[in-house]
Amino acid sequence: MSFKQRTNTCGELRSEHAGVNVTLNGWVNAVRNFGSVYFIDVRDRYGITQIVVNSDDSALLAQTAKELRSEFVISACGTVRLRENPNPKIPTGLIEVLADEIVIINKAELPPFEIATHEEQSQASEELRLKYRYLDLRRTKLQHNFIMRNSLYQLTHEYFAKHNFLEVETPVLMKSTPEGARDFLVPSRINKGKFYALPQSPQLYKQILMMSGFDRYMQIVKCFRDEDLRADRQPEFTQIDIEMSFIKQNDIIELIEGFTKEVWQRLLGVSVETPFMRISWHEAMTRFGSDKPDMRYSLELTTVTDILRNSGFAVFKDAAAEKNGVIALLNAKGCAEFSRKQIDELTEHAKKYGAKGLAWMKFQNGEVTSPIAKFLTEEEIASIKQAANATDGDLLLFSAGEFERCYTILGALRIEVAKRSGLIEQVKDTFAFLWVMDFPLMEFSEEENRHIARHHPFTAPKDEDVELLQTEPSKARAVAHDLVCNGYEIAGGSVRIHNNEIQQRMFDLLGFSREDAENKFGFLLSALKFGAPPHGGIAIGFDRWVMLLCGTDNIRDVIAFPKTTSGLSLMDGCPSEVDTRQLGDLGIGLLQPKA
Ligand code: AMO
Ligand code: AMP
Repeated sequence: MSFKQRTNTCGELRSEHAGVNVTLNGWVNAVRNFGSVYFIDVRDRYGITQIVVNSDDSALLAQTAKELRSEFVISACGTVRLRENPNPKIPTGLIEVLADEIVIINKAELPPFEIATHEEQSQASEELRLKYRYLDLRRTKLQHNFIMRNSLYQLTHEYFAKHNFLEVETPVLMKSTPEGARDFLVPSRINKGKFYALPQSPQLYKQILMMSGFDRYMQIVKCFRDEDLRADRQPEFTQIDIEMSFIKQNDIIELIEGFTKEVWQRLLGVSVETPFMRISWHEAMTRFGSDKPDMRYSLELTTVTDILRNSGFAVFKDAAAEKNGVIALLNAKGCAEFSRKQIDELTEHAKKYGAKGLAWMKFQNGEVTSPIAKFLTEEEIASIKQAANATDGDLLLFSAGEFERCYTILGALRIEVAKRSGLIEQVKDTFAFLWVMDFPLMEFSEEENRHIARHHPFTAPKDEDVELLQTEPSKARAVAHDLVCNGYEIAGGSVRIHNNEIQQRMFDLLGFSREDAENKFGFLLSALKFGAPPHGGIAIGFDRWVMLLCGTDNIRDVIAFPKTTSGLSLMDGCPSEVDTRQLGDLGIGLLQPKA
């Protein structure tokens, strides 16, 4: 069907266009009818323009205007004029187009939810919006997110090119590299019984590129991880993957600080102070109960193991006596007014993170109330109060148990208290960046009964901790760095092992037999023998950066075709069953055939 092509976009016209004849193409955002006059808002990705139809001007025009419904695709011709009632909220709000011709290019069924909304949040359920993602993506809010995303791609290429980085593509079908999550597997038809893995990240390839002398590598790359999904986690997500040779940890950190500064300045007009604060993992855990603390508010934790180690409360006493046992508290400043019900809710919240209970203590009207007061001496209560810097009106929440569990519980409560007390609302338009460093190199997995790498097995131990690898491996710290913003881990990386023997020793410690290591990482171990430069890098969580830049806490708002938290794509219905012939070609049979 022929239609008149646009002379301008729907976001372009201003007062200086008054008197010009224009043609606009777009979707009907809304139609309002006052007697013989129709106001039609036409929308495209550039904006919205008001079209006016005067029924008295032409019977045909009037007839077409009457037929128009939301989401019809139209071509409208007319003359730009100044509006009698300007709309200061939109950039085209000073003008309108007096139509002399409107052609319906395509009709639309009644959409299952309203697209023309001025609210940030659509009223429709996310499920419905994901099913009709093509309609959801017409919403101005979402389109802005993708314009922001695009700006970040551009800026990324510009910044890293300026710093001499080369973009190199790495395979999507690869050998699996352990990064902590489960791999997505792809069966090989030609090599039946063998599988490729989708990359959890191009970690090994980028290290190999350093050994090939590429020196500075970057790639905007899709990564795939078969793990439990959350509001900030997708099974396929994008990284800005970076690796550099002949560098020290500081070089990586400064490069990324420079990038962050430029991104925030140019995309949000926000000036970010560098260098960012750096704290160790241990400090992050003990002060904030998280390895990715939200630093926009204080609410710090206090460790009271020494005060309560010998207290009359058996739970605390036993916890302190255990290996790695600690007692700590969160001072919820000014929250003594929290009701019993609210405290019960906090207790339930703590239980999600493995708490067995939640002891608390209120300082209110000069009195102390607490279910554990009866077990404590006056001196103990006074010492707690002093250590926690508590004053009248404060609520203390206690946790006792194994180091990481104990602090993680309080860290979760810290966020919950910040939400409930309105703290987060107060800081919502600010950004607080932080480097978390010196992570433990490995942790002991009860499940696998062996040490596992906390970051990945290629991360270098700190020079001063190399000895510990023989004696107390779980005490050794890594030359690793995570960038955190507003409680999100937005990048993570490390300096790598570039020595074949240390790498081999690491695999030994992680419980890989020599044969296993050879089998899985033989190519890396071999490459390390042929002149590997010192190297290190980082990967930026691209989607999380876009989330922060767009002010959303839902990663699905910044990915065009995301999966639900159960890993489904509701629009096209994947994953889906495949027919037996396809499986046969791959030499695969299902354990439980389809019903
Ligand atoms: P890491 O596993 O820390 O490091 O990942 C880097 C960053 O990617 C983001 N991210 C995710 N974003 C969305 N959905 C997910 N499922 C998801 N998983 C991770 C986070 C994270 O900080 N190869 C190493 C990097 C290196 O050592 O250089 C790696 O992948 O923002
Ligand atoms: P109980 O004497 O068992 O009723 O416990 C007294 C208080 O301590 C209750 O408020 C419990 O929720 C709390 N509590 C129990 N176990 C723990 C724990 N490991 N850490 C913190 N508080 C706890």
